[in-house]
Amino acid sequence: MSKRIKMGMMGGGHSSFIGIVHRIAAYMGEQYELVGGVFDHDFEKGKDFANSLELDIARVYADIDQFIKAENALDPKDRIAVVVIVTPNFLHYEMAKKLIQGGFHVICEKPVTTTSQEAVDLENLVAKHQVVFALTHTYTGYPMVRQMKSMIANGVIGNIQKVDAQYYQGWINPVIHEADKRKSVWRLDPKVSGISCCMGDIGVHAFNMIEYTTGLKVEKVLADLDTLYADNPLDIDGTALIRMNENVKGIIRASQIATGEENNLTMAAYGTKGALKWEQENPNYLTWLEEGQPARVLKPGNDYNTDFAQSSSKIAPGHPEGIFDAMGNIYLGAAKAIKGEKYHSGAFPTILDGVRGMKFIEAVVKSSAAENTWITIS
Ligand SMILES: NC(=O)c1ccc[n+]([C@@H]2O[C@H](COP(=O)([O-])OP(=O)(O)OC[C@H]3O[C@@H](n4cnc5c(N)ncnc54)[C@H](O)[C@@H]3O)[C@@H](O)[C@H]2O)c1
Repeated sequence: MSKRIKMGMMGGGHSSFIGIVHRIAAYMGEQYELVGGVFDHDFEKGKDFANSLELDIARVYADIDQFIKAENALDPKDRIAVVVIVTPNFLHYEMAKKLIQGGFHVICEKPVTTTSQEAVDLENLVAKHQVVFALTHTYTGYPMVRQMKSMIANGVIGNIQKVDAQYYQGWINPVIHEADKRKSVWRLDPKVSGISCCMGDIGVHAFNMIEYTTGLKVEKVLADLDTLYADNPLDIDGTALIRMNENVKGIIRASQIATGEENNLTMAAYGTKGALKWEQENPNYLTWLEEGQPARVLKPGNDYNTDFAQSSSKIAPGHPEGIFDAMGNIYLGAAKAIKGEKYHSGAFPTILDGVRGMKFIEAVVKSSAAENTWITIS
């Protein structure tokens, strides 16, 4: 295989929010080359976007079926090898299924599908077709989140006895109070978004952060979700109590009506010997607490970090690293897997994280609808 992996995109065109993060991330590790794709649901707009990137217009397609047929007819050395899915949620499953069956590696946005059954189907297909499937829970790519994961695994804070993850945003507040404005947001449309807005969009990041950093599994949830208005079908706020294996309890708080909040994702793990706390809006600081000691702040790029965290930094200490770098680390991990090279466990979230996330989303919706009862996650 040539050094650069040929990459395609589903979505990510002119109107896309997250597409630019993926493209910059893909180029950061100098592992990928964007070749073509289906950049927009409107073919003309997709071609216009491809022209703006000076891509070969022959590699821009009207839909996924044409993409797969034409790419698979090419000489393997020219063919696109990995496809990034950055469309709204309801398209992920059909696209990923067709791509995996067509022999393409997949890098997919979360939530991975709209049901857990679809996610399990993808898990089986990934195993059958032996392709790499990376799920972009972006925050797992931050060096200090990886440091937190390594320190917990190394027993630095002892046995975990409490976890607390929060993801607060406020962007739905300006649109939620008027029915007409609500209709302009695809995340509030169950046909496009799935069974949840807030928990599916950002609560699932908090859930993933807990399982990623602690290595524990959430076994039960008791949730209270809020739609604010009776004619709004999806949650825009929610709280979930969680019970994990090893008798660990905790809480997940998520909101899109936390007025004024931007991307306030936080993760805290409290153990028998100490605690670790991290905030997405200040991602270069990992706070380490120990009884009777002043709080310590760990930062990226320093030799005191673990090899996993150090290998996730590209620059010397003191130069801030952000969301593009975090996504870049996930792309780098996926590139190593695609090339058959060695990579750290946890270098990129997989379809297994996607299955866990979908089971969490279904469980919190079920729990809240059943008047806040405990629901087991299988
Ligand atoms: N990892 C993260 O932190 C993060 C952040 C934002 C969004 N996301 C996820 O990314 C996905 C996209 O979200 P967004 O906010 O960028 O959405 P968006 O509405 O801004 O962009 C969607 C893009 O998909 C394209 N599209 C729609 N239908 C298509 C089709 N049939 N074929 C090809 N392209 C099509 C649109 O033209 C547009 O370019 C969602 O699943 C969302 O949950 C993840």
